[in-house]
Amino acid sequence: MGAARASRVIGALCVTVAIAVSAFAVLAGRAAVAAPEPPAGHGVHEGVASCADSSCHSRQVDSGVTVRQNELITWQDPSSPAGAHSRAWRVLTEPRAQAIARKMGLGPAQSAKECLGCHSDPAPAALRGAKFHIEDGVGCEACHGGSSGWLASHRTVGGSHAANVAAGMRPLENPKERASLCLDCHFGGSKPGQFVTHQIMAAGHPRVSYELDLFSSLQQHWDVDADYVKRKAYAGGVKTWAVGQAMAVDRALSLYSEPGRGQGAFPEFYFFDCHSCHREIKDDPTARPKWQANPGRPIPSGQPPFNDENMIMLSAAAQAVSPSLAARFDADSKAFHAALARDKGESVRAAGRLASSARALSDAFAGHAFSRRETLAILDAVLTGEVSRRYTDYTGSAQAVMAADTLLNALVSSGQADRGAVDRIRPSLAAAYAQVREPNAYKPEAFRAALTEVAQAARSLK
Ligand code: HEC
Ligand code: HEC
Ligand code: HEC
Ligand code: HEC
Repeated sequence: MGAARASRVIGALCVTVAIAVSAFAVLAGRAAVAAPEPPAGHGVHEGVASCADSSCHSRQVDSGVTVRQNELITWQDPSSPAGAHSRAWRVLTEPRAQAIARKMGLGPAQSAKECLGCHSDPAPAALRGAKFHIEDGVGCEACHGGSSGWLASHRTVGGSHAANVAAGMRPLENPKERASLCLDCHFGGSKPGQFVTHQIMAAGHPRVSYELDLFSSLQQHWDVDADYVKRKAYAGGVKTWAVGQAMAVDRALSLYSEPGRGQGAFPEFYFFDCHSCHREIKDDPTARPKWQANPGRPIPSGQPPFNDENMIMLSAAAQAVSPSLAARFDADSKAFHAALARDKGESVRAAGRLASSARALSDAFAGHAFSRRETLAILDAVLTGEVSRRYTDYTGSAQAVMAADTLLNALVSSGQADRGAVDRIRPSLAAAYAQVREPNAYKPEAFRAALTEVAQAARSLK
């Protein structure tokens, strides 16, 4: 199964991010066959080569001035996650991708529209400039927006970020904007070729695992320094994490509700907990049931649960910021799970209400400055509260460890916790990561025990 890769990443996160975070520490084929109209202001994608002049973004070392100018080198890093986007198209030419495409009868993966929406820059044909190459994978403009409107002006003296954004640059410092972008490929989107169906998974695609703030750190090619904060609003790790969770819930429910997603008579399995179906059955009665009661999901056993990893995190974040929105969100999420066990149409209506609660939370987080006290309260809720009784399956548990990692990193980078104190929590965090490294070996009781250890170690921060 694709689990090996996802867990490899999760295993690697702890170490990589500990390094990445030190950067902040001092300071507070044809992708889209029938692509929809691009949003206004999105220009022509001029291609990675247009960014690569040595006086622009392809220096060998960090310039130490406004921006690093060695962004291209980071993006091209041959071995680390930071360089994954430059490899995104190339991996389609390799045996694993070829095998997936063969099983699905798609022809070569590197020109299959089912793959290119995420493994290359999905700019529609009309918005591809002379130097645009699909082979460049997820290039600069796949994230920063087509540059025809701002390529010349964004480097002039006296320019401003607002002027660049007005000319079509995407404001990725804004966590909602960033979350919406990353989710397109790291969860799925409505645009053509941006959804890993269960059929693609079954043909051999790795599981897609993701948390906005941690993944931002893993591909970080920028510094949040005094100059950055002056030019752009800096959201900080906790807000980025919280908005990322809310947007992920909204995205999953919106896609679930879209008509036409599904496999024949069945719903699209991608949205459900993989291991609820992919489990051994033993005739030994003492080995049954594997199913565990979950207070967040009022559904009978025998029903595949909707993957609720982000709902659990969102619930923890909501409690610290707005108890009334939290109560509404929790009621709506229970109602959604219950509706799934009853009726498709009812589940879609309940999904709409739940998505709207998630959007309200996303707005509330975006306008909120998270204090140290609130961050510690969220950490506590993730690790020990009522929410922790909902870690009955793999994905929610993996999301909980990533959350603890992100929240601790945010405390350090904002100067709200001592690095040494957080370092003393890391061994227990690493032990919790070990519990989610191999999805097929996941044991809820052992996982919850490991999380309790993290909680105990984290008490020293109070
Ligand atoms: C919704 C976006 C999306 C679509 C559609 C998609 N992928 Fe992926 N793919 C990803 C992401 C994201 C990863 C990285 C997963 C991770 O590590 O978190 C990935 C990883 C992979 C990998 C593993 C690469 C490696 O470095 O080991 C292969 C192979 C792959 N995809 C092939 C395909 C093929 C073939 C298709 C089309 C049939 C396809 N993908 C469609 C998003 C997508
Ligand atoms: C996967 C998405 C993604 C890709 C691909 C990407 N970036 Fe970025 N980039 C970001 C995000 C997110 C930020 C941080 C938010 C911000 O300030 O815009 C950022 C920040 C930057 C910054 C710092 C901006 C500042 O104000 O300090 C520069 C410069 C930059 N990117 C250039 C590039 C170049 C050049 C490439 C291609 C070689 C590239 N990026 C590829 C997502 C991406
Ligand atoms: C157009 C699609 C696309 C967008 C947008 C995108 N990614 Fe990716 N990303 C991918 C694919 C595909 C891979 C896997 C490539 C591979 O395996 O070589 C990937 C890999 C990564 C990895 C490496 C993970 C690993 O398994 O090693 C990180 C980290 C990452 N992306 C972060 C982000 C962040 C943060 C954003 C938003 C700012 C983002 N990505 C936006 C397609 C995308
Ligand atoms: C509702 C039940 C259900 C859910 C949920 C589900 N699957 Fe499946 N899966 C199936 C069935 C049924 C098959 C087909 C088994 C067969 O062909 O023998 C399958 C096949 C597969 C296969 C191919 C297995 C093989 O032996 O070749 C993989 C890999 C896979 N699923 C991964 C996933 C992942 C990853 C998820 C979660 C994102 C998931 N599945 C969620 C029911 C499910």
